[in-house]
Amino acid sequence: MKRLKNWDNKTWLSSKSYISQFNKFLKRKINLNKNLKILDIGCGRANIISALQKKYKFRNKPIGIDVVGNKDVKKNIIFKRVEALKYLNRQEKYDVILIKQTIHFFSKTNLNRLLSLAKKSLNSKGKILIFSLKTKKNKIPCFKKMKKNLEKSLKRDENLFRIIKKNLKEISYSNFNFKVNISKQKYVRMIRERYISCLLNMSAKEIKFGISEIKSKYKNQIKFTDTLKCISYRK
Ligand SMILES: C[S@@+](CC[C@H](N)C(=O)[O-])C[C@H]1O[C@@H](n2cnc3c(N)ncnc32)[C@H](O)[C@@H]1O
Repeated sequence: MKRLKNWDNKTWLSSKSYISQFNKFLKRKINLNKNLKILDIGCGRANIISALQKKYKFRNKPIGIDVVGNKDVKKNIIFKRVEALKYLNRQEKYDVILIKQTIHFFSKTNLNRLLSLAKKSLNSKGKILIFSLKTKKNKIPCFKKMKKNLEKSLKRDENLFRIIKKNLKEISYSNFNFKVNISKQKYVRMIRERYISCLLNMSAKEIKFGISEIKSKYKNQIKFTDTLKCISYRK
């Protein structure tokens, strides 16, 4: 798959309000305090752990890893440009391992490897938190071809959820909901910049057609709820 570069590039996913609501959600899942050691796998620009570091001033700076090194990755965390399986193959332990909207980049075999390594990399009572788009009745605004690709990817995610259940066993589920209110103009820019992986392999022509579809289908302001399924595992 091609590399994803614009996921959190000035989108609702990097907005103050999203990050703050997301981190409030995390607070309900984890006893956030300065002694925690956090690893964010597939951290993108590291907006989430950066905001956490600002607030909780962890003794150990959170570590964010990603295969893409964006030039505007947050500076108050430790960023490593590395593939997750390579990085986890070491002795270091964490209290929290966050894997947000990243599992779909893994093959079934590699996801199994990732989970097993993540479990081994947890301190006692450590937690793994996995977030992924909800697979049923997803509300992400799409044009036809994008919808088709997204549905296919969400179907695949359901298989990945089965792998997670089988590997981690004792897990609990919840949902994180964020109400998006974005101008059509901004959303069109996000599509043009291929913000989501179901757009990565489309031709320029398909994106252009898709954008005209979005332009005629939606009003000037686009509103919908972005829902993530949260899978939580505790050692
Ligand atoms: C959809 S983005 C999510 C970014 C961030 N977690 C967030 O929610 O804002 C997925 C990220 O996972 C990264 N990624 C994909 N495969 C990876 C791998 N094998 N190891 C490390 N990072 C990976 C991508 O480069 C991308 O930045």
